[in-house]
Amino acid sequence: MKITFCCSNTNAQPWLEALQIALPEAQISLWQENQANDLADYGIVWAPPQTFFDEQTQLKAIFNIGAGVDALLKRKIPAHLRIVRLEDAGMAVQMAEYVMMAVMNFYRQLPAMKLHQSQEKWLAPVVNDRTKMTVGILGLGILGERVAQALQHFEYPVIGWSRSPKNISGVKSYVGPAQLNNFLSQSTILVCLLPLTSETQNILNNSNLSQLPKGAYVINAARGGHLVEQDLINLLDSQHLAGATLDVAQQEPLPAGHPFWHHPKIVLTPHNAAQSLVGPCVAQISQQLQNLHAGLKVEGEVSQALGY
Ligand code: NAP
Ligand code: GLV
Repeated sequence: MKITFCCSNTNAQPWLEALQIALPEAQISLWQENQANDLADYGIVWAPPQTFFDEQTQLKAIFNIGAGVDALLKRKIPAHLRIVRLEDAGMAVQMAEYVMMAVMNFYRQLPAMKLHQSQEKWLAPVVNDRTKMTVGILGLGILGERVAQALQHFEYPVIGWSRSPKNISGVKSYVGPAQLNNFLSQSTILVCLLPLTSETQNILNNSNLSQLPKGAYVINAARGGHLVEQDLINLLDSQHLAGATLDVAQQEPLPAGHPFWHHPKIVLTPHNAAQSLVGPCVAQISQQLQNLHAGLKVEGEVSQALGY
């Protein structure tokens, strides 16, 4: 079997070495633009260029080395091509850790304590009522559910919103556009873990963020395309929102001079909430690839129609 690896902004060497160990029978090569590449049976990709698909006409399936497929689905991809994404593969625990970091930073008022420290004040902030700190998770999928579990461990009330109903112990499930406002109005902390699709683009806009209770906190660890950035800044500056932790932006890397760099109410991280780690990702991809090749059930198949 021939496999081609085409992952932009990725150091290919460790991936190629780990894949060759996991799939010793396979011929694995690095895809290169403007070169005569072999036609492969399977592609392992991250944000490949259109020329990859124009050239690789024999592919049976592609494996995305991330959870989100929004960059991939911008390409013109043959309808018959099977697309498989990562499910967890070591990312869920990282995402849970990231969201807990942001939630605790807000709930335990770390910025206020840092200020007190700089003023040499031994002063404890007033304790917030945890039972009123409902965390609303937009997207109760693989990552959202793991985040919900971590939050419940620290006894935060958790609610979630998704396309289909969920039955997660202790997490009230809200479904679809009709229940979005009700969900938002109860979310003191809002966490976005949705895939970026035509239905979810710009969902963190003025109209929706205004439904959050006054003083709410926003965490976007999904995609920059979910957030209307100026709407967030306006709601922070008008005191409707207390703050935000953002791992993603409309343009990445964030351009020089962007207001997020120095906004006092924004914590910014460089899209590293949950990273694709070579070991667990190669283990999952090689297993799914062997399953698919053998005609067995494959987990993590993407619907081109739904966009995730
Ligand atoms: P997932 O398992 O596919 O979960 C997506 C969730 O969103 C599901 O609950 C789904 O509902 C819900 N959803 C999708 N479209 C919706 C809509 N129109 N309305 C309401 N709910 C909708 O995905 P995942 O593995 O948890 O990953 C989620 C996203 O996290 C990825 O797509 C990626 O963008 C982002 N991510 C970011 C990082 C980072 O480092 N910042 C790392 C990894 C992933 P159903 O359950 O009903 O289908
Ligand atoms: C990272 O953002 C991913 O989608 O895996």
